[in-house]
Amino acid sequence: MSLLLTLSIVCGLMLQHYFSLLSAQYCVPRKTVNYQSHLNLFKEDGIFNYSAMLIRDDLGVVLLGAREAIYALDINNISDQKAAVYWRVTAEKQRECTYKGKHAEVECRNYIRTLHRVNDTTLYVCGTNAFSPVCDYMTFANGQLTLSGKQEEGKGKCPFDPFQRYSSLMVGTELYSATSINFLGSEPVILRSSNSALRTEFKSSWLSEPNFVYMDFLEESLDSPDGDDDKVYLFFSENAMEYDFYRKVTVSRVARVCKGDMGGQRTLQKRWTSFLKARLDCSFPGPSLPPIVQDVFLLRQKDWRKSVFYAVFTPQSSLSQISAVCAFTVASIREIFNEGKFKTSVAVETSHVKWVMYTGEVPEPRPGACINNMDRKKGMNRSLDLPDKTLQFIRDRPLMDEAVRPLTGGPLLLKRGPLLTRIVVDSVLALDGDTYNVMFIGTENGYIQKAVNFDGEMFIIEQIQVYENPEAVKVLRLSSSKGQLYAGSESGVVQMPVSNCSRYQSCEDCILSRDPYCAWDSSAERCSSVSSLSASPEAAVQSLKEGNVSQCPPPDPVPAVDVALIPGNNIQLPCQRHSDLAEVHWRFSDLQVLSTHKYYIYSDGLLILNTTASDAGSYFCDSVEQINSRMYNRTVAVYHLQISSEPVSPTPGIAATKYFIQTLKTAATGSQPDLESEDPPTPENQSDSGRMSRLEVAVALLSLLCLSLVAVILWFWKRGHWKCFGLAQSSKGGEGKRPPSDYTHNQNRNSEIKLLGAEVKPCTANNNHTTVDFKKNGEYHFPPLANISNLNGLGYIHDESEI
Ligand SMILES: *[C@@H]1O[C@H](CO)[C@@H](O)[C@H](O)[C@H]1NC(C)=O
Ligand SMILES: *[C@@H]1O[C@H](CO)[C@@H](O)[C@H](O)[C@H]1NC(C)=O
Ligand SMILES: *[C@@H]1O[C@H](CO)[C@@H](O)[C@H](O)[C@H]1NC(C)=O
Ligand SMILES: *[C@@H]1O[C@H](CO)[C@@H](O)[C@H](O)[C@H]1NC(C)=O
Ligand SMILES: *[C@@H]1O[C@H](CO)[C@@H](O)[C@H](O)[C@H]1NC(C)=O
Ligand SMILES: *[C@@H]1O[C@H](CO)[C@@H](O)[C@H](O)[C@H]1NC(C)=O
Ligand SMILES: *[C@@H]1O[C@H](CO)[C@@H](O)[C@H](O)[C@H]1NC(C)=O
Ligand SMILES: *[C@@H]1O[C@H](CO)[C@@H](O)[C@H](O)[C@H]1NC(C)=O
Ligand SMILES: *[C@@H]1O[C@H](CO)[C@@H](O)[C@H](O)[C@H]1NC(C)=O
Repeated sequence: MSLLLTLSIVCGLMLQHYFSLLSAQYCVPRKTVNYQSHLNLFKEDGIFNYSAMLIRDDLGVVLLGAREAIYALDINNISDQKAAVYWRVTAEKQRECTYKGKHAEVECRNYIRTLHRVNDTTLYVCGTNAFSPVCDYMTFANGQLTLSGKQEEGKGKCPFDPFQRYSSLMVGTELYSATSINFLGSEPVILRSSNSALRTEFKSSWLSEPNFVYMDFLEESLDSPDGDDDKVYLFFSENAMEYDFYRKVTVSRVARVCKGDMGGQRTLQKRWTSFLKARLDCSFPGPSLPPIVQDVFLLRQKDWRKSVFYAVFTPQSSLSQISAVCAFTVASIREIFNEGKFKTSVAVETSHVKWVMYTGEVPEPRPGACINNMDRKKGMNRSLDLPDKTLQFIRDRPLMDEAVRPLTGGPLLLKRGPLLTRIVVDSVLALDGDTYNVMFIGTENGYIQKAVNFDGEMFIIEQIQVYENPEAVKVLRLSSSKGQLYAGSESGVVQMPVSNCSRYQSCEDCILSRDPYCAWDSSAERCSSVSSLSASPEAAVQSLKEGNVSQCPPPDPVPAVDVALIPGNNIQLPCQRHSDLAEVHWRFSDLQVLSTHKYYIYSDGLLILNTTASDAGSYFCDSVEQINSRMYNRTVAVYHLQISSEPVSPTPGIAATKYFIQTLKTAATGSQPDLESEDPPTPENQSDSGRMSRLEVAVALLSLLCLSLVAVILWFWKRGHWKCFGLAQSSKGGEGKRPPSDYTHNQNRNSEIKLLGAEVKPCTANNNHTTVDFKKNGEYHFPPLANISNLNGLGYIHDESEI
């Protein structure tokens, strides 16, 4: 029995892997570009934590703040350092900081966290300064960076703790900052430092252990018919007050304040009278705690109402490995704040407070609103003139009842695997005259995902590895005018172009990439950037929504390879698919080859076991990719198998079979097979890729065995004999155990994954699908067993305890 259990577990893992090899990969990047050493890189020995960045297109520099250093780098080539200034903590400050129990070399240093433009020549800079934040003015003139030396108090403008997330913004000469105002980090504030300084109340209903992420400014007074004010928007996560749950739940929020706010006269003196917050909704498939906002980017439009905030969300529970991007329009956020209902607290028996929708009368002028023409008509020119009733209301009820819903009702992108960290979005005018919003999203392991949502279809054009070592992207900036991205990590900054069309070498590659920046230039016969097309744009081909290659010249047929066939031997025929979204299909004598006891199809080729004379003939490997509902089909390898009588050394297939048995033995004895480090026991020399293929053959063989095992288990299950094994039937049939009611796993009815020769379904923006991406960067990665529930049509294992 225990052997059987071990086997089932190993099988579960293997099956997942099998699936990932075969197909059904939702929001898997179509291509992966590994680290390229020619990317421009900036780092200085001994300097770390490059986490503040300011792009100055006007000055042609990227300003970069690190630990105890600020740099001005050439915007076209960040390896080219124009100037640097060092701002180290004094020995005295460092000592004070260590006395307070902080780590001298880690926390008691000066981390530059704030870099803002004041005017053409002047910048505002703040650093943590050994848990004693300070700010200063800095100029960049005549190729020199100079600190003014007139240090200002940085408390509330910059965090004490270098590890704390924080956000700030310069509007005119006023600094808006969201951080902790004390050493312990227990007093969060949203502060405006100016002649009329304002801050939030120290009340948990205003801010409760927040994590500030992003701030931006919108000039909403521009052609506003009702004389509205400009606003500052802030994104953060905090402890939820509106949920009744046995433990703390974090929620994501958007908050806003009015630029013209001056505080109240008696109530809310020197406090915001316009602070409103609402929950951000970005629902992931399946039941989960609310996801947490990690970064935001404001994609501005000419009409500010149409501007869109793109936000990256990650799961609250570390078990889940799904991240998402949701977009929120300014108009939808305004609607909640300007017209939505409020939440209010009510005391329930046990001195416990519950937040519910406020249904009573809302005072006039509306609490939290900016001063507008109507108020001015009534003689209320400033927030100081607002009546106490309005101010008391907002002091006690800053939270809106309704959450802000994302633009398309759900995520624009869902990605399984390493978590997403930072986002920027670029608008690209394509040849079809439409504008596409291309998302560049940094990950925790040092990749940039380049993704588009084509009318609801989620599509990752490519993922690009930007750091040599897997490090989190900590800051991501875009210069749209230069077509460059800048990605900072703890150890350095990398510059990357928004596109490199020359990587697509054929017309079909170019079209199928569906990259809005790239088009096939028929006259020059190369894939070019849309902005630099050589001749007439009529000669250029691009098909973003359809990926229609019919305008491309037919590709040259692939040359056939002759292979000697020795009856009784195994033969392995390699075949590489043309994209990570494609799957391979084999044909032999005009018939499709299916995986059977004789044939094993795996991602890198076909294995024919125990060949006979009847196996001689032509084999075709077709790489098939689904684009929307159409199939793109390209023959990528052709083999002619001819009978040969000459003795040849054993083919790798045999070795693989041996290895498969070895793997199975390891599995049966309880230890996990370590596929990465264990070399197959073969005597011959092997290339790395050869070894991988063999592993996959082994995996494929084992998987087949597993399939039969699963069939047996399912049979048992159906008979109701094996209740402890949490495999349920797919929900098509009425019989069989249903998932627990709180487990609202959405079945995608159209995308039943066939066990063999599975079908690919593109990523779509609706929520009822699952993402399967188990193969990470060429490494074999086995996610926790709980994730098996994502194998649609196979069933669920809800958690390990059920096994
Ligand atoms: C960028 O600048 C560095 C240092 O000045 C130089 O070595 C490198 O060749 C430059 N790269 C490009 C692409 O110009
Ligand atoms: C820029 O701002 C600084 C600090 O406020 C000020 O001293 C300086 O005169 C300003 N320069 C210009 C050109 O406005
Ligand atoms: C600064 O970088 C170092 C080296 O990568 C890292 O260990 C440390 O955690 C970073 N510090 C902060 C405050 O992020
Ligand atoms: C409000 O502003 C208007 C015009 O600017 C002025 O006439 C009026 O006296 C002001 N009211 C108050 C209460 O300050
Ligand atoms: C674009 O890709 C090609 C091929 O990988 C590479 O040689 C070239 O340097 C890249 N160009 C840029 C600007 O990164
Ligand atoms: C692809 O493009 C060709 C010519 O532009 C057109 O005739 C054909 O209908 C298109 N196919 C699809 C599926 O859109
Ligand atoms: C290989 O095929 C031959 C003929 O079909 C059969 O006699 C032999 O037992 C097979 N060998 C294996 C290892 O399956
Ligand atoms: C791919 O094309 C070949 C002929 O070019 C055809 O025989 C095969 O069935 C096609 N495969 C798919 C999956 O459409
Ligand atoms: C195996 O590889 C090593 C180093 O790559 C080489 O020196 C050796 O000759 C190879 N052996 C065979 C049998 O090919």
